[in-house]
Amino acid sequence: MFPHPTPAFVVDEAALDRNLAILAEVKRRTGCRILLALKAFSMFSVFPRMRRVLDGCCASSVHEARLGRETFGGEVHAFAAAFSEADMREIAALADHVTLNSFAQLRLFQHIAAESGRTVACGLRINPEHSEGTAEIYDPCAPRSRLGVRRAAFAGETLHGVTGLHAHTLCEQDAAPFARTLAAIEQRFGDLLPRLAWINFGGGHHITRPGYDLDLLCATLAAFRARHPNIETVYLEPGEACALNAGTLAATVLDVVENGLPIAILDASCACHMPDVMEMPYRPRVFRDAAWSGQAEPGPAADRGCDPGVKAHTVRLAGATCLAGDIIGDWSFDTPLRPGDRVIFEDMAHYTMVKTNTFNGIRLPAILLRGPDGALRTVRAFGYQDFKSRLS
Ligand SMILES: Cc1ncc(COP(=O)(O)O)c(C=O)c1O
Repeated sequence: MFPHPTPAFVVDEAALDRNLAILAEVKRRTGCRILLALKAFSMFSVFPRMRRVLDGCCASSVHEARLGRETFGGEVHAFAAAFSEADMREIAALADHVTLNSFAQLRLFQHIAAESGRTVACGLRINPEHSEGTAEIYDPCAPRSRLGVRRAAFAGETLHGVTGLHAHTLCEQDAAPFARTLAAIEQRFGDLLPRLAWINFGGGHHITRPGYDLDLLCATLAAFRARHPNIETVYLEPGEACALNAGTLAATVLDVVENGLPIAILDASCACHMPDVMEMPYRPRVFRDAAWSGQAEPGPAADRGCDPGVKAHTVRLAGATCLAGDIIGDWSFDTPLRPGDRVIFEDMAHYTMVKTNTFNGIRLPAILLRGPDGALRTVRAFGYQDFKSRLS
């Protein structure tokens, strides 16, 4: 039974541990260092657990870098499409690596890193101009992308002061797209690799997904390391793979209205609590289970949501905001939904908590943790002050 108020994110430590064990194996087999991409998952109460395996974290801003420095431990890396000078001064006081997105930013700011009194490695993000067929909004190699320096832009420039390169090009991809991307990097930038001390192959590696080709990833990385023995450190910085299938969003049906089909209005909102469902877009897995007690996956007795018409009762699940499009999707279940029923959305740990908003003053989901022993603990509950404090 789940006795807690909803909406609530419930992160399952046993599921996190399963992901961490896979990442530990990649580290062991390849000698790579693995960082958590904070943009995907910033639940700092579980960072001590993640730090047992991961070498540090990567940040996209001063605030993430500070969170990483304060709460994660290990290495802090930072990259943004552009930094202001003030950002760069703060980053230089927090990060171990900073990767710039253009030669102009590099020339403007590398002295700040050098004069920080700390050891701050400077890197440059490259664009290998090799797309692996993802949606354009998730493809840093799409035409006219602002992310990364194309090889042509290296003409007349030097890598003075740069100790490493960074390439993030993938999104939810298997090892074969990575292997092809690596070939493109070596083809375009191969002459620069003998001068590097490190290289970072970004995120988008769906390493912990069932069926992911771990052997190919490890073989590809190990072969790369053997070809480039001068590159001391190879980094990966997955976000999604760290928290994949490790948490849920629990919601309660508030009302069921009828207009062509039953529409269940929930206390969880697509627009406020799972915006990637609209942005990406994608269709989450959902289930109902009176016996559910916070596990990341449905139990054997769960009524799993199927495509419309597959089970007896098709229903639309939607949020309570004013937005007509605040619709999570249509599913069918064994029994009709009634006010007070619980529905559980799967795989809601990553790119959710970090993206929530309080549009319409909608309540932010509480954050709960389910320990390996099954005990549930409320880590954080939100209220009116959290809404008010972002406004003035
Ligand atoms: C530079 C960089 N590193 C790492 C990541 C993490 O990617 P993912 O969560 O898909 O593994 C991203 C995602 O956008 C990114 O832009």
